[in-house]
Amino acid sequence: MKRTVKDLVGIKGKVVLLRVDFNVPMDENGKILDATRIVNALPTIKYLSDKGARIVVLSHLGRPKGFEIHKSLWPVAMVLMKLLKKRNVSFCNKVIGDEVKERISLLRDGNILLLENTRFYKGEEECDMDFAREIASMGDIFVNDAFGTAHRKNATTYGLARILPNAVGLLVEKEIQNLSTAIQQPQHPFVAVLGGAKINTKIKILERFLERADTIIIGGAMAYTFLKAQGITTGASIVDDECLEIAKNILLRAEELGKEILLPIDHICISKSDKKQAVVQSKKLRGDLVGYDIGEETIDLYRKEIKRAKQVFWNGPMGLFENQEFAMGTFKIAEAIAACRGKTIVGGGDTVSALNKLNLKKKIGFVSTGGGATMEFLEEGNLPCIDIIQEKII
Ligand code: 3PG
Repeated sequence: MKRTVKDLVGIKGKVVLLRVDFNVPMDENGKILDATRIVNALPTIKYLSDKGARIVVLSHLGRPKGFEIHKSLWPVAMVLMKLLKKRNVSFCNKVIGDEVKERISLLRDGNILLLENTRFYKGEEECDMDFAREIASMGDIFVNDAFGTAHRKNATTYGLARILPNAVGLLVEKEIQNLSTAIQQPQHPFVAVLGGAKINTKIKILERFLERADTIIIGGAMAYTFLKAQGITTGASIVDDECLEIAKNILLRAEELGKEILLPIDHICISKSDKKQAVVQSKKLRGDLVGYDIGEETIDLYRKEIKRAKQVFWNGPMGLFENQEFAMGTFKIAEAIAACRGKTIVGGGDTVSALNKLNLKKKIGFVSTGGGATMEFLEEGNLPCIDIIQEKII
């Protein structure tokens, strides 16, 4: 078991370098579209602040190439100040250098200082140990609460843990507990709902669910590769031909293991020539028809399976849900999962954003803050930036 912030003693007056994942969606004006990741980091920040630590918060935002004003963490700092209005929160527009050292030296016990986007420095993603050492020299302890970035071996997620005494934060602890139980001790029937475009990013998780789940429900563009692998015509729908063999093997393996893989039986299609929309059965998906969402019969089929589940995990939309015309499948499945009486777990940026659009997040048992990290944790049972954290001394 990993050491957590609760295991740290004597942190009053110490400088704690706290890595969080404030990689939040923002519009071009710097308006934060979903503050979940900021809100979810609050318990660790408050805990450390209450214990009298001087907290230096580090995070990346987006994938900037050097300094980009639109990727500044300043808008995040404003939200953090509002959310923690009873505490002293400030922002520094650098990560290293004399100004940062000066600002840290001015911190009082319980104060919080957010630094600028760590990815403005190329040492971050390269996990440059000189960069990590420079940051580490400004703190006493490293706490990693950035679950969403724990699959990235960066200087502030991995490098700092190699140098400083460390622990995980309360969010990482919660994520590990929920996701580990879901995959190691699943409740049966366990239904995994997987959507999205590409099979090759989901192969490992599909294999894992073949071992652990009872039924796998497939939606999104990747369903067409599976349908083609079954010998069903898919019209002009997106098919990943390079993954056909993989899809065939997964279907075969499911049969051998007596597991069920459910594929769409009808589709919301657009004809490429006349741009007309139609509902088409799988067997009639021919010519220039492109499938963009699951149809009502499929929704019914999937809904029944979800209703009888004792545990559901969902990642990936059922169709091109960003476009309202093709959002029905994803939304109906979201509603079915929210209504399920079993244990429900949802992960992934698009999937959580679908829940948010319907205001359903509160009805889900556990919503993971990770995208790629959640999937990698379920596949591998661990993540490099968590693995490197010290074990709890029992
Ligand atoms: C995420 O949003 O999945 C994490 O913050 C990691 O971001 P990245 O994929 O840009 O490394």
